[in-house]
Amino acid sequence: MSIGPKIATVFGGSGFVGRYVVQALARAGYTVKVASRAAESAYFLRPYGTVGQIVPMTCNVRDRASVERVIAGSSVVVNCIGILYERKRGDFKRLHTDLPQMIAELCTAQNVSRFVHISALGADRNPSRYSRTKLAGEQAVLAAFPNATILRPSVIFGPEDDFFNRFATMAGFMPALPLIGGGMTRFQPVYVRDVADAVVAAATHSAFGHSGALGQVFELGGPEILNFRDIYSRLFSYIGKRCGMVNLPFGVAALQAGVLQFIPPKPILTPDQVKSLKTDNVVQDDAMTLDDLGVTATGMSLIVPAYLERFRPGGRFGDKKRA
Ligand SMILES: NC(=O)c1ccc[n+]([C@@H]2O[C@H](COP(=O)([O-])OP(=O)(O)OC[C@H]3O[C@@H](n4cnc5c(N)ncnc54)[C@H](OP(=O)(O)O)[C@@H]3O)[C@@H](O)[C@H]2O)c1
Repeated sequence: MSIGPKIATVFGGSGFVGRYVVQALARAGYTVKVASRAAESAYFLRPYGTVGQIVPMTCNVRDRASVERVIAGSSVVVNCIGILYERKRGDFKRLHTDLPQMIAELCTAQNVSRFVHISALGADRNPSRYSRTKLAGEQAVLAAFPNATILRPSVIFGPEDDFFNRFATMAGFMPALPLIGGGMTRFQPVYVRDVADAVVAAATHSAFGHSGALGQVFELGGPEILNFRDIYSRLFSYIGKRCGMVNLPFGVAALQAGVLQFIPPKPILTPDQVKSLKTDNVVQDDAMTLDDLGVTATGMSLIVPAYLERFRPGGRFGDKKRA
């Protein structure tokens, strides 16, 4: 089924998730406009398409006319903009709630066929400000563009992630990794390419019934559910070295985060993230999932060891059996 010209706009397309979304849309035959605060930061994406297929564009998200310009002419719009911490109070609301609302309103005004919005797993049940502003964003998007598709991923893994890479780095110089709240919070890590494939499936409905994703919320998780203790153990086996684990009660972690949030260049931990860790980050039993979008979830063990190889003592040749 045709949904209009094969032109897509991706907001936040230079980011970790966005770059895979751009590649997946290009593979699906779309000309992709990558909206970024500075077009140069998306130039690296151009080789992922044919000549002229991927078009980095500068967009000032504080300026409605600028946002309108990058949407104009597209049949598909994807929003991958999001932040994990605020540089100043109000950033969460501005980027997670007000901006998606503006994009959704402009998509309606411009007769865009499909709008896919990336939210976060737990948006509807986690009390952190990150999640509450994400939920308000979902509601604003669906009010302004009722046929939007909302994707809520759990923590996302992939070569450029800020999760396994961060803990692997910490394991290299810290005597012990923290288990906040005892490390019992459960996650369902999902592969970044699966998230990108889910975006394309939702945007094109190639994988299932023609109206299946319109106005729906999907929760995206991988095949395994692990708590932090499991995740660290898995990490140690991937990088071939161990360090300790130390229990950090929520109250102590919150106090530490009160200080750590001010350490440049970016906060190691914020009080809002500690609050967020009190709620499990797993797909609900009754949720629509990757499966419903026709995407088979990829296991961590197939992907993570390859990109964490650089953390192994001796690197790729550190494991004599594999070298
Ligand atoms: N990574 C995860 O594990 C994970 C898990 C659940 C949900 N999510 C959600 O998935 C989406 C993508 O996450 P990601 O990991 O790809 O994040 P990311 O790598 O940090 O990229 C986010 C993008 O947001 C844009 N951005 C950041 N601050 C901005 C600002 N002040 N004004 C305008 N644009 C700004 C950036 O675009 P430019 O620099 O190009 O302007 C950046 O490319 C987010 O909504 C995030 O909440 C991620």
